[in-house]
Amino acid sequence: MTDKKVDSNLEYLKKLFIMPDSPDKFIEFGHQLLEILHHLFQERGGIHSSITLPQLSMIFDQTAIPNNPKLIKDVLIEIKDKIIHHSVKVGSPYYIGHMTSAIPYFMILLEMIIAALNQNQVKIETAKASSFVEREFLAWLHRLIFQRTDRFYERNVQNHRIALGNITSDGTIGNMTALLVAREKAFPPKGGFPGCRIAGFDKALKFYGYKRAVVIVSARGHYSIKKAANLLGIGEENVLSIPVDLCNRIDIDALKETLKDIESREIDERTKVIAIVGIAGTTETGNIDNLDALEQISRDVDAYYHIDACWGGSALLVEEYRTLFKGIERADSVSVDAHKLLYCPMSMGIVLFRSEKDLNYIRHSSQYVIRRNSVDMGRFTVEGSRSFACLKAWAALKIIGRQGYSLLFGHARNSTEYFKQILDNSGDFETFSQPELFILAYRFIPNAAREKLIEWCKISAHSSKEKSKEAKQNIRKINHLINGLNIKLHKALRMDDTTFVSRTILESTQYRPNKIVVLRAVLINPLTSEHILDEILEIQKRIGLQIWQGFEPAYQKILEKLVNEKRIKATREI
Ligand SMILES: Cc1ncc(COP(=O)(O)O)c(C=O)c1O
Repeated sequence: MTDKKVDSNLEYLKKLFIMPDSPDKFIEFGHQLLEILHHLFQERGGIHSSITLPQLSMIFDQTAIPNNPKLIKDVLIEIKDKIIHHSVKVGSPYYIGHMTSAIPYFMILLEMIIAALNQNQVKIETAKASSFVEREFLAWLHRLIFQRTDRFYERNVQNHRIALGNITSDGTIGNMTALLVAREKAFPPKGGFPGCRIAGFDKALKFYGYKRAVVIVSARGHYSIKKAANLLGIGEENVLSIPVDLCNRIDIDALKETLKDIESREIDERTKVIAIVGIAGTTETGNIDNLDALEQISRDVDAYYHIDACWGGSALLVEEYRTLFKGIERADSVSVDAHKLLYCPMSMGIVLFRSEKDLNYIRHSSQYVIRRNSVDMGRFTVEGSRSFACLKAWAALKIIGRQGYSLLFGHARNSTEYFKQILDNSGDFETFSQPELFILAYRFIPNAAREKLIEWCKISAHSSKEKSKEAKQNIRKINHLINGLNIKLHKALRMDDTTFVSRTILESTQYRPNKIVVLRAVLINPLTSEHILDEILEIQKRIGLQIWQGFEPAYQKILEKLVNEKRIKATREI
């Protein structure tokens, strides 16, 4: 079907804009669009749509901007057929693979308000009430995390001279803003030195007598920390990665060792620790660092202390989770993502600073937008133009409320515990994390192979050096095989497309130093029931066992080879 040709003229174009007497078409298309979306929600079938990536590239292969205007109606049909049908159903209760998940329907309506108002949060002239909403929202979150006094919040909730934090596009910018402040605090203006942001990193190091400056985070750190180091001139290789303990938390002893090493360097190798970053909800396993200990250590080495709580921070809404975050209230800054556990649609980050003065380190002004002494929010942000995204999170906290979030997180926790329990009981799976915040890392491993691994682990821990070395080699070989099995299983699950979990590689805490391929479930969709989890496991087990048949000969070969090697060795010894 060819689209109807539009005779474009200014009168027609004027009618496309929102005016006091907006045309009925606005309501008509609004209804149509909501209906299209409603149908999408009702659709059954595959999660990813069966269209292939090459087929998609053929649909979107126009190389020039269209010349002739089209009717809105026709473009809506095109959006429905070409885009909506081929989008990922991240809201499906069978989709338990990513932090991007289901959202409440009222968010779609709030998005409409945001677009309709089209406020630009950069300055008061383009964002009036919305600037006050943003400050109120930031004060709520600041209080939730840092728990300063009533008087502090009464004084600062709408104090335009300071900023308690920023609303950002996402968690990456949140982390970057925090590390920007950390960098400035590490090399502040002093004497004739104008500060790092003015003089640059090279001069800052020279002025303060350092050869190198580093940021420290655990091996589970999100890659946004490296991105920030890159953009801030610190350099990715200056992000030091500390191993994790068995619970995927930063290994405090290893961290202390690293810091001891840094402190002991010669004068011409002096190294400044710009920041230590704690993680409150690791991306891969959802675990929380020992935030309390990290705070003390940061103070001891005079380093800025940032907590990346992009994943887990919102759990503080529920009082019983606070103990997991002990010490967070003493961090210098904390980043949280609204599009994760606040159940907001893509995308919005929040970064909060314990001291209301810290954002002054990056404060800036310009003649045409954010004049000195203005009340504009843009004075304190890395980003320029920003949408009124925080309306969604602000309204969600009112509509769902802390009680509602408590119920949602309760469901998420039950789902995670239930999934772990059925995986552990199944015999053909191995779970790798003690879930704290609704993420589970696990893999498919047939019972016999798992038992062999356990046996070799025992040998490697309790035997002579030589035997232990041999056992470690066997463990490596089996893990290598099981990695291949899980990659294949994951691909087969993608083909099956009725369920979805993600896949990643972890430095194993059990089988160090083996890298293992794991499946990863993020269990936050309130519509994911125990029955659905049973189904997901059943599908994974069925397909996993089918694929294992192809791997079994290789497995048997490894075992035979080991038996033969043992025999030869025993004969030689005789
Ligand atoms: C722990 C953590 N930090 C930071 C980020 C980055 O957030 P965003 O994708 O919103 O930039 C993520 C994203 O998954 C994360 O899990």
